[in-house]
Amino acid sequence: MNVCVIGTGYVGLLTGAAFADLGNEVVCVDKDQRKIDMLNRGEMPIYEPGLEEMVKRSREENRITFTTNLSDSVKKSRVVFIAVGTPPKESGETDLQYVEAVAKEIAANLDRYTIIVNKSTVPVGTGDFVRSIIEANRRRDVDFDVVSNPEFLKEGTGVFDALNPERIIIGAPTRHVAMDLVELYAPLEAPMLITDVESAEMIKYASNAFLATKISFINTVANICERAGADVTQVAKGMGYDSRIGREFLQAGLGFGGSCFPKDTLSLRHVGRKFGENTELLDSVLSVNEDRVPRFVRRIIETLGNVQGKTIAILGLAFKANTDDMREAKSLEIIAALKEAGATIRAYDPIAMEAAKAVIPDGLTYCRNAYEAAENSDLAVIVTDWNEFKQLNMEKLKEKMKNPIIFDGRNIYKPENMKKFGFEYYSIGRK
Ligand code: UDX
Repeated sequence: MNVCVIGTGYVGLLTGAAFADLGNEVVCVDKDQRKIDMLNRGEMPIYEPGLEEMVKRSREENRITFTTNLSDSVKKSRVVFIAVGTPPKESGETDLQYVEAVAKEIAANLDRYTIIVNKSTVPVGTGDFVRSIIEANRRRDVDFDVVSNPEFLKEGTGVFDALNPERIIIGAPTRHVAMDLVELYAPLEAPMLITDVESAEMIKYASNAFLATKISFINTVANICERAGADVTQVAKGMGYDSRIGREFLQAGLGFGGSCFPKDTLSLRHVGRKFGENTELLDSVLSVNEDRVPRFVRRIIETLGNVQGKTIAILGLAFKANTDDMREAKSLEIIAALKEAGATIRAYDPIAMEAAKAVIPDGLTYCRNAYEAAENSDLAVIVTDWNEFKQLNMEKLKEKMKNPIIFDGRNIYKPENMKKFGFEYYSIGRK
């Protein structure tokens, strides 16, 4: 099938790469010439394990191409995916300006029946919105349909997730319209739910807000465990054996970051409020999350007495492991708060150093590895749970530090082991 994907961010690029891998002819469009040039050189604008190899295979077979020319790409495609950014506005409302601009351009170039698919995470009602824009801006009287097909991939495991989705949600005006997408996804042999457009849109937000709720829930439990002398990792494990609860997304820590959970929970709350509904539960999920870093930093300051003039090592900058994405990364909040309190920061991340430098260009020392970051530090903080931090040479790390104090925001070490190595060790929701 001829497929066009507009937007080459995480969602667009992985979607395009997966469809090409399945043998479709895919054209990926982006207005950013620099990104398209990179992709045409075989370089990926994002770090995602396995993506470069997957794209390379399809490029060699000419199954995937990259261009800034939206007009030609739309004209030759049966299905056009919109996968552009949907950032939050100050109010929490989703900003649909990029979706709107793309819908207008698609409308101007429609010359035969086309299925337009909202792949971007968009609030309920966006399908109707896109339909009305296309109707108003069409230059020819050609038919079209708008479908919602939300994406659930996780950064860091995006290639696997795109090829092995747990479910495929197709929100279409009729079952007949859904059939092209069913055909496109059939080789993945994943469960499919064909539903109406509004329900499909809600499934995405409800799923992300539910997972965010699980995280805020376990973080609330962690706070109580800290006071009561219980161990939240054991509590989560014990809860997770219950199949109704499940083991995943019960890791207590610094709270949820990244490009989805914070903004999608805010957006769902905004939609709820717009309809005059009670959103107290979502308010709490967000406020618990907002207090994660301030609480953690308060504990650091209490432990050191005063951080003025102290050196603190930050291990991990990306919002989570296996990505270089710095959006809503907890490192940003922690570094800002510690600097504000007078600390000197030495930081290291295995992959996100360049991305971090783009957001915090100065005011801290970027180091080549964890040991260099720990040099002469009064305290080290684990911010991202990268595998390479799990197996650090603790004797070497301790030797480098002025004071062997570790604050582990991800519970990657065992308290008894850290004690044996001679560290003063603080973690989340554990004694
Ligand atoms: C998420 C959804 O999982 C995915 O389905 C959707 O398509 C996009 O949003 P992603 O943002 O890539 O994916 O990361 P995810 O692994 O879900 O983690 C989100 C945040 O929650 C991270 O900050 C992570 O550190 C945090 N988290 C996750 C926890 O604090 N505890 C957990 O148990 C799980």
